Amino acid sequence: MTNYLTMSLQKTLHNRINISILSAMLKAGDSFVSGNDLANALNISRVSIWSHLKQLTKENFLFEAIRNRGYRIQKEPTKIHPALLNAYLNLTSSPPPPLIYLEETDSTNSEVERQLLNKIPTPFAVITPKQTQGRGRHGRTWYSNDPGNIYLSFGFKPNNLPPPLIKSFTPWIAIKLCHHLNQEFNLPIQIKWPNDLVLHGKKISGMLAESRIDVDSTRDLIFGIGLNINGNPQTWPPELQEIATSIQNITGKTLNLNRTTASIISCILSAYNQFIQNTWHPPLLSLWTKYDSLYNKYVKGFHGSTPIEGTAKGINEIGALKLLLNNGSLLLLDSGEISFSGPLKFP
Ligand code: BTN
Repeated sequence: MTNYLTMSLQKTLHNRINISILSAMLKAGDSFVSGNDLANALNISRVSIWSHLKQLTKENFLFEAIRNRGYRIQKEPTKIHPALLNAYLNLTSSPPPPLIYLEETDSTNSEVERQLLNKIPTPFAVITPKQTQGRGRHGRTWYSNDPGNIYLSFGFKPNNLPPPLIKSFTPWIAIKLCHHLNQEFNLPIQIKWPNDLVLHGKKISGMLAESRIDVDSTRDLIFGIGLNINGNPQTWPPELQEIATSIQNITGKTLNLNRTTASIISCILSAYNQFIQNTWHPPLLSLWTKYDSLYNKYVKGFHGSTPIEGTAKGINEIGALKLLLNNGSLLLLDSGEISFSGPLKFP
């Protein structure tokens, strides 16, 4: 028991030191960070700094070292590296949320649920490069075996949030992320109601919110997102290749996975804060109009169990889809899913 505890404390300390070293180097950018300064700031020896760097090179980092000047990062791992991701989060998010990294798990949403039962402080995030039982909406599975993509979930306790508003949460997060990816990475990503992100007509991201509610308050909110960043669709199941893709596959650009993930985590946390502060209605509508992939398209779907079809006319102020039916009436769809159905109709 004592040994186990000592080992896990040592591991935590080792990780903390790695995060601090990497944070200092990221902050310095192209400049060198002196080993002496690092050692003094972390209250450890220069030899210890060197041995941490040596260990990190075994984890796919390369450092440039110049006598009397110090060190800087020359190459970063291309897969999620928990200390590097934490270091990027230190730069982008204040305060950075606790982040649980698992080499593999059944589903990050399920892991968040288990952690919430353990009563860990919220908000927090769970990330993995591989899920064995990734879950999608409407009971579907989510293919989760490509470490170039991210599988990420958050645990929130928005106790003052009236449960009926939860339906608006995923469209809101989705549109904020869509805007963020357009602005920060210059990617022409669009939104497909209710919360899919699409690039050149193919899905690159899906989101799944699950909640535990009391009579008039939300006890737990679990929000999970799968985002295909640098994944290689050629290795995915053929039926998925028809409808989904990755950012890398469309643009040919390989994004820095750790930096991009940190910016996504920060975006989601700030969107969550806006949501609970109730300042999301006007931006939801204006951003949706900008990125709506369905506007004026003829679509088919279900209203409850009744099949419906009509022309998509955007959303209302809480994120329900406005559908102009063939009989001229307007239907509000507050849940479900719709698909394209040609031919295109213009007003
Ligand atoms: C959809 O069907 O579009 C939603 C997919 C949501 C997938 C994510 S991946 C991370 C989190 N864990 C899961 O099991 N599902 C969500």
